[in-house]
Amino acid sequence: MQSLSVQGERTDGHVSLYNSRLVVFLEVNLMGRANKVVLAYSGGVDTSVCIPYLKEEWGVKEVITLAADLGQGEELAPIKEKALQAGAAQSLVGDATERFVKDYAFPAIQANALYENRYPLSTALARPLISQLLVEAAEKYGADAVAHGCTGKGNDQVRFDVSIVALNPNLKVLAPAREWGMSREEAMAYGERFGIPMSVKKSSPYSIDRNLLGRSIEAGVLEDPMTEPPEEVFAMTRVIADTPDEPEYLEIGFEQGIPKTIDGKTLHPVALITQLNERVGKHGVGRIDMIENRVVGIKSREIYETPALLVLIQAHRDLESLTLTADVSQYKRGIEDTYSQLIYRGLWYSPLREALDAFILRTQERVTGTVRVKLFKGNATIVGRESDNSIYAPDLATYGAEDEFDHKAAEGFIYIWGLPTRVWSQKTKGEQGKG
Ligand code: ARG
Repeated sequence: MQSLSVQGERTDGHVSLYNSRLVVFLEVNLMGRANKVVLAYSGGVDTSVCIPYLKEEWGVKEVITLAADLGQGEELAPIKEKALQAGAAQSLVGDATERFVKDYAFPAIQANALYENRYPLSTALARPLISQLLVEAAEKYGADAVAHGCTGKGNDQVRFDVSIVALNPNLKVLAPAREWGMSREEAMAYGERFGIPMSVKKSSPYSIDRNLLGRSIEAGVLEDPMTEPPEEVFAMTRVIADTPDEPEYLEIGFEQGIPKTIDGKTLHPVALITQLNERVGKHGVGRIDMIENRVVGIKSREIYETPALLVLIQAHRDLESLTLTADVSQYKRGIEDTYSQLIYRGLWYSPLREALDAFILRTQERVTGTVRVKLFKGNATIVGRESDNSIYAPDLATYGAEDEFDHKAAEGFIYIWGLPTRVWSQKTKGEQGKG
């Protein structure tokens, strides 16, 4: 505002600076930050409050919400309705569960992607897909911006912002909750002013993200890393005391690194994950409790439940050990770590992922076969594996009479293999000995 009053008084080069600030001021406050916005919508407090906030505070003329069905097992019809009540011009629901499994989960399984060696990225993988849905909707409905309800502390804002710009650099990304500075109570009060019903029941003390691949739970008592997660946080996995007293076996069939069958029966990708979640979770398998390093530098305590994904990665990795050469396996481990990091850090749509995908896909050509898994009391144990492409050679491996390995060849090999060590030892230890 001040820049307006001093504008005419300046005769030096600063005039243009003030003018450009005036333009920004007008754009933001008079014309609004955007005309038409597609907002990622979950039905929760923050994203609901975003609707009136975008319109009232940021001058957005039309808010279109988009709720993504990623198999979270939640009725989306009421969410759709809620968005309209909160002032959305249109409320879209995108069913993307199949895409989620085929285009995001399966490549991650082929990559054995575990962030910091533990977290199979169930939440992280959903963000590039939701971003894609947002961008598709924005293009279809002629929106000039997309928006999300992430705060400034998490990973998800990074994933949305970077994915959206990667898909369409002309779209603006608005993140009201990152800027509004309202506490949760204030946000709820703000929402109530615009007729957004806030659920009367005491809201969960946890922050939970859920989709077909798993649940991520944080906050509340979990913020103390020494506090054991209360049983109430879990929903996909049983407590050991309630798991069956008999082990259960399952056989997972892979084709080129993609899971296709369970117990010999071909299943649709979504059905396969659904069935595995249930059978694996029933035995108390799939819980993770970890301190992880967020992109924004914060360490956070996270609880995950990802029964199917964890067992699939475990089984897939085992099948690779039967079908890949030692050097490819070893090299791939480094690729896997990089791949996991890029998913976590929001770089799904990046030239790096495309390049790594090319490597990974080539390695998967012969990763076809079956893995037998035993589930019992919180453990998933691989107890068998077979493949027509197996490069396990029984004649070489056996300790029995059929042994075809040339034992004498080992001697010369070891002499040369150990030569540098011999020379080094003679130089350092041999001279000491002489005194
Ligand atoms: N830390 C996990 C990730 O960045 C999960 C965060 C999910 N959000 C939540 N509200 N629990 O992928």
